[in-house]
Amino acid sequence: GRLLSFHRAPASLNDSESYLYESDGALLIRDGIIAKAGSYADVKAAAPEDVEEVDHRPHLILPGLIDTHVHFPQMQVIASYAANLLEWLNTYTFPEECRFVETAHAERIATHFYDEFLRQGTTTAVAYCSVHKASADAFFAEAMKRNMLMVGGKVMMDRHAPQGLLDTPQLGYDETRAVIEQWHGKGRNHVAITPRFAITSTPEQMSAAQALAQEFPDLHIQTHLSENHEEIRFTCELYPEATDYTDIYARYGLLGKRTLLGHAIHLSDREADVLSETGSVAVHCPTSNLFLGSGLFPLKAITRRDKPVRVGVATDIGGGSSYSMFKTMDEAYKIQQLLGERLNPLDSFYLMTRGNAEALSLVDRIGTLEEGTDADLVVLDAAATPAMKLRMETVNTLPEELFLLQTLGDDRSVVETYVAGVAVKTVLGK
Ligand code: GUN
Ligand code: FE
Repeated sequence: GRLLSFHRAPASLNDSESYLYESDGALLIRDGIIAKAGSYADVKAAAPEDVEEVDHRPHLILPGLIDTHVHFPQMQVIASYAANLLEWLNTYTFPEECRFVETAHAERIATHFYDEFLRQGTTTAVAYCSVHKASADAFFAEAMKRNMLMVGGKVMMDRHAPQGLLDTPQLGYDETRAVIEQWHGKGRNHVAITPRFAITSTPEQMSAAQALAQEFPDLHIQTHLSENHEEIRFTCELYPEATDYTDIYARYGLLGKRTLLGHAIHLSDREADVLSETGSVAVHCPTSNLFLGSGLFPLKAITRRDKPVRVGVATDIGGGSSYSMFKTMDEAYKIQQLLGERLNPLDSFYLMTRGNAEALSLVDRIGTLEEGTDADLVVLDAAATPAMKLRMETVNTLPEELFLLQTLGDDRSVVETYVAGVAVKTVLGK
């Protein structure tokens, strides 16, 4: 098939140095790892004689897509009719997450969760589980079964939610520790320290999260930041000593290169400087931001500051309204249009693959087609539907094809998904 992968962020639509494109390419996969990538002739010459060949011509082969912010217990929350974030949380989301106290429920949803992501070509996701340890157990057990590289955490939350969703500073600490000991480094699993956001954690719990971050400095940390004006006002009331929302997380030592901050829409210059200086990542969740009416994230502007902020892109299911990374980037594109900015398709596909892997500091394993990395792949067809096929007749360049995929594509454009070298989409069926 045709290979496409990025070396770095493209500087412009004409930056053909930023990516590798092989029009007659091949990958040699051995033990779930990309052993060789290049032209078909070169790879064929390096392959053993009895190698099994899979022909994906004329489709595009990319690194598997990555989603850097999603809520595993919100599959039955997506498409809930709410006016704004706090109403959506209280009316739909918190009651639904209470159901994850039942192991059987968590296990059932975990199966659907992985099936759906693989159907969409997403091979790695960074997830919030519920407050219940059992939800994290179900999440990581299912990831191991499927040999997927997943990042996730038991949510820590000890106030401003229904009783059934609350832990305590001690319990949140102990159970997060138990999840780390049980799952981190097992299979391809990565555990993230996951205080939900400052509204649902007492200062005591934030200190517990800080203690975990100090004990396990290699782990990811994930939380939410500056998503909605009402949320920001309430948060700052709860932490009056902090300069602003970002300063709350800074005070508890929760910022850094492994920290993922969902949304981060309404930041002051000071806050953006702090994110930049600490290397923290702002995770853009476009479908969610539009669906909940949260605001327009300045994706282009924030990455071009003198002190640039690292960014990732994500669905934020169930505040987000699509599992598809194409739909996600289509909405990201439209948000930039409204802000008078251009998000070019090379940039979008970079962000869905290598960009998100860099945001996770996992580019040595995923997000590229480099030799020695994990063979998580997606095979894409930009002519998957009659309307796409018709439009493809007038497409001449690779960026045009990518833009078509982003604008009209969905799971039907995902011909196959490979996890560690194994084809997993077509066996899922419909
Ligand atoms: N802030 C705190 N929790 C959540 C959540 O579940 N979804 C979104 N979008 N924002 C949040
Ligand atoms: Fe979220």
